[in-house]
Amino acid sequence: MTLIDPVLLKYRLGSLAGRFDVDALPECDSTSSELMRRAERGIAAGTVVVADRQSAGRGRRGRSWLSAPESSLTFSVLWRFPGNAARLTGLSLAVGVALAQALESLGAVGVRLKWPNDVLLEVDGEFAKLAGILVELSSDRRGTQAIVGIGLNLATPTEALPQPAAGLNDAGVRVDRHLVLAAILSELAGVLDIFADAGFAGLKTAWHGYHAWQDQAVHILGEARPLSGRCLGVDADGSLLLDTGERVERIFSGDVSLRRV
Ligand code: BTN
Repeated sequence: MTLIDPVLLKYRLGSLAGRFDVDALPECDSTSSELMRRAERGIAAGTVVVADRQSAGRGRRGRSWLSAPESSLTFSVLWRFPGNAARLTGLSLAVGVALAQALESLGAVGVRLKWPNDVLLEVDGEFAKLAGILVELSSDRRGTQAIVGIGLNLATPTEALPQPAAGLNDAGVRVDRHLVLAAILSELAGVLDIFADAGFAGLKTAWHGYHAWQDQAVHILGEARPLSGRCLGVDADGSLLLDTGERVERIFSGDVSLRRV
């Protein structure tokens, strides 16, 4: 497996090449941590760090994230927005839309989104995690910087994981990693432009189109008390809407577990 070649990637990105500056590393602790350190030195929005291996890859809720060059794509993108972080609720959902659109453009079938930011693959009514998204925000008087970290399984993971996992190969896609990364960055550029103009409201309909459990019965664990009801999807601020039968609950915290009944 060869390292991502930034020149080949630029070629694949075509007219969008100027919006990204890609650095490919054989190994780092975490592409998001590496990008965060570089961001402190003032690098440009659109900088991308992609690594073949991460020694301390980070997932949501303090979990670790494993990566291997032959079977995964792990990278982080720096983006900047005007205003404070409160305006960016729903950003990780927007990134999910970009990922789903990109994977579909490569021919993947069965890509679904699970609130707040898992990308799943549906095969015969069963769901397995295909990719994870970790968005980390920090604000100062100039605006808000977002480090968007994405880990995508290209091949079915073989190690023991806390939930079923799938690879892009399971969605019928076996293509060069440059093509996959270029497709994701292209969709990301478009989606982040929409988000900068209209916020998540501009992407809500697209998100619902990929929602794994739209209008289905779900349990929500991790709130002060467990909730059950019909999942109505998401609101323009990215919160999850649950019809409990008595009222519509709005869930903001991403620290909950959503389970299909
Ligand atoms: C999740 O827990 O689902 C989110 C996983 C995000 C992993 C990616 S891999 C690239 C980037 N660097 C990291 O350390 N984490 C993110």
